[in-house]
Parts: sequence; C-alpha cells; structure tokens
Amino acid sequence: MNTRDYIALEALRCPPTYNPLPIVLCKGKGVWLWDIEGKKYLDMMTAYSAVSFGHAHPRLLKVLNQQAQMLAMTSRAFYTDQLGPFLEKVCELSGFEMGIPMNTGAEAVETAIKVARRWGYEVKGIPENKAEIITANNNFHGRTTTIISFSSEPLYQKDFGPLTPGFKIIPFGDAKALEEAITPNTCAFLVEPIQGEAGIIVPPKGWLKDVHRICKEKNVLLILDEVQSGLGRTGKMFAFQHENIKPDGIILGKALGGGILPISLFLSHREILSLMTPGSHGSTFGGNPLACAVAHEALTILQEDHLAERAAELGTYLMMRLQQIDSPLIKEVRGMGLWIGVDFHKHLVSAREVCEKMSLKGVLSKDTHHTVVRFAPPLIITREEIDFALDVFQSTLKEIEEQKDFL
Ligand SMILES: Cc1ncc(COP(=O)(O)O)c(C=O)c1O
Repeated sequence: MNTRDYIALEALRCPPTYNPLPIVLCKGKGVWLWDIEGKKYLDMMTAYSAVSFGHAHPRLLKVLNQQAQMLAMTSRAFYTDQLGPFLEKVCELSGFEMGIPMNTGAEAVETAIKVARRWGYEVKGIPENKAEIITANNNFHGRTTTIISFSSEPLYQKDFGPLTPGFKIIPFGDAKALEEAITPNTCAFLVEPIQGEAGIIVPPKGWLKDVHRICKEKNVLLILDEVQSGLGRTGKMFAFQHENIKPDGIILGKALGGGILPISLFLSHREILSLMTPGSHGSTFGGNPLACAVAHEALTILQEDHLAERAAELGTYLMMRLQQIDSPLIKEVRGMGLWIGVDFHKHLVSAREVCEKMSLKGVLSKDTHHTVVRFAPPLIITREEIDFALDVFQSTLKEIEEQKDFL
C-alpha cells in the first residue's frame, strides 16, 4: 500500500472528524517521525503536547516492556503494586494529597466536575441539583457531551444536544467577570491556566493570582485544567507555579503517559477527594498497572532530566527567534516555555497552508483555529533542532510572501 492507499482506506473506514495533513507516519524516534516513504520530519506538534519525552524514549520502553510482562491490567477490583507508588510520586511533585486515575483528559475533567459538585452539595451546602460551575470563553476541556455543553465553539455542540445544564461561561483572563458571575450556588471555577486549543492564549499577568484570591474569598473551588500546560511544557512543572498559587485541584493527562499510553488524573486535597465513596466513580482501565508504571517513570525522567527547566530555557530562545522574524504575514507570536503559537493575518494566509508547506520541508505542525501554527516540540529537543525548525519556518514564509507578491 502507498500513501494514497492508506489515506483512502482511513477515509473510507473512519469518519472525517479530523482533517489530517496528507502524510502517513509509521515510525518515531526522539524528536523525529518518519512516513512510509522514508521521509523524515521534526515533530513540532507532539500529539497536542502529549509526546513531551519524544518518541520511543528508551527508559519508557524498558518500563513498558517489563511491566507488560509482569502485569498489565487488573481493574480496580484489586490493589496493585503500581498505583500507590505512582500516586505517591505525583503527589510529592504537585503538593496535592490524593488523585483519581482515569485514562483520557476528558475523563479526568468529568471526574473534576463530579468532585466539585459533590463538594458543593456536601460541604458548601448548595441545594440539590443547583450547583454551578464557571468556565471560560474559548475553553477546551474535551469532547464528552457534558464538556461540550460549556464550550463556546458552536462546531463542538451542533446536533449533540440536549446539553448538560449547570455551567456559566465568562471571558478568559477577566478576574472581575469571575467575581460578578459567582453566586451562592457556584461550586467551582474550571479553567485552563493558558488556553491551548483556543490558539495558545496567555492571560494577563496576575490574573491567576486574582482568580485564586476571589475563589478563596467566595468559597469556590479553583480547578485548573493542566492537561496541556502541566508537566514542564510552560517552563515550570505546573503552570500555576508561575504565579505562586495553590489551586484546589488540577487535571493532568497527555504527557503523563509518556506519549505511549493514555493516563490522566484529577488531583486535589484529601478533604475534597475523601468525599468520593465506593461506587461513586470508576473506570475499568483507570489506574491500570501498565499505565501507572510508565507514568511513574515519565515523572522520574521529567525530574531527573530537568525537562521543565529545559523548556524554560529553550522556550525563551524559540520565542526570541520567532519574534525576530520580520514577516507581514505574522500578526502575533505568543506562548510560554516550549508552547508557542504564531498567529497569522487570516486575510493573507491560512495556518493550514503554512503547515502543509513546512511538512514538505520536513517539519510537522498543525493549524489551530485556521490562523495559528503551534510550536510544541518534545521537551528533549536540542537548540540545533529548534534552529532547523526555524529555518524551515522562515523559508516557508518567504516562499508564501513571494508567491503572494509581497516583495
Ligand atoms: C486543556 C485540555 N483539557 C482536556 C483535553 C482533553 O483531553 P483528551 O483528548 O485526552 O480527552 C485537552 C485536549 O486537547 C486539553 O487540551
């Protein structure tokens, strides 16, 4: 089968909920990917920030193999020798006291919603079925029917109603709007510290500190969705550490599984998570020993190899170089750590066109909301590899400018 055959087969058998670039990948090692024709690409996309450790990390593969041969799946009907030690490690790193393991980011968000509502009824005393959760405009927290109910993107909701009630949407980065939206029935503010899928939107400095203070004053849980921003991506282990606050709970996913397996977590304090009783929540695969072993090793690598510090240092370099590019196509460059979005003027060029042209030159990324190209490489990337991505990016922009006759 050739490239065209695989694309046609996937299109025949899989409905078009995605619009992939026309490349068929078959191999990954470190920061590099290969297609079935043997062409090599630098991965600046990392599966929407899930492959922070690069592809096929030898330490992760070793643990994966060892644990798969030992014990892969039990369900939570029994204890294992992997779940406790893994949670101990993540609690030590994050400063939280307990965590509920799930598989995907969306499931961990659902878990956080349930926990927040239960806390609202049992601790805050909100009348039955009246709990409200405040969320932010342009959020992205996943694709379940409840989660899309508080999306502000009509495309994510169309034809999927009836939607779940109990959510309010306020502008992102606006602390005053939060203060005004809170009522006695508000149990939580659920928000991304930096909005990823919205196009890597960084809120004003100090916003998270204000939000934290308001939530404390009004007795509302502050729950941060760190599915993308967590685990070193922004240059700190967790994005909330940039503003020195301590939220009431965080949601982790994506990179937690080392880019190999899905595993996610809702982490919080003991007095909050202790409200979850037997039978109140669960998942067949959640907390399975294979995923826990890989995630445990991923966290150890993150610490031992100082990947958050690396993201801070190389992210500063990448940001500086991107900001130096003088192109009439670029509207804004924004981001934090190794998580940067270049926003293009939409009447001049589409982000898709930039990504397609870069892929021909050996760099892979994906457009976000038509105008943004993201630079989110594995955190193990080197400066030389970043330079390669920048060279390709710059020559791609030059090519487009020439074609469009800007010169
Ligand atoms: C901030 C955030 N939360 C949740 C999710 C959902 O994760 P998953 O696709 O694993 O369900 C995503 C996915 O992009 C995300 O970016």
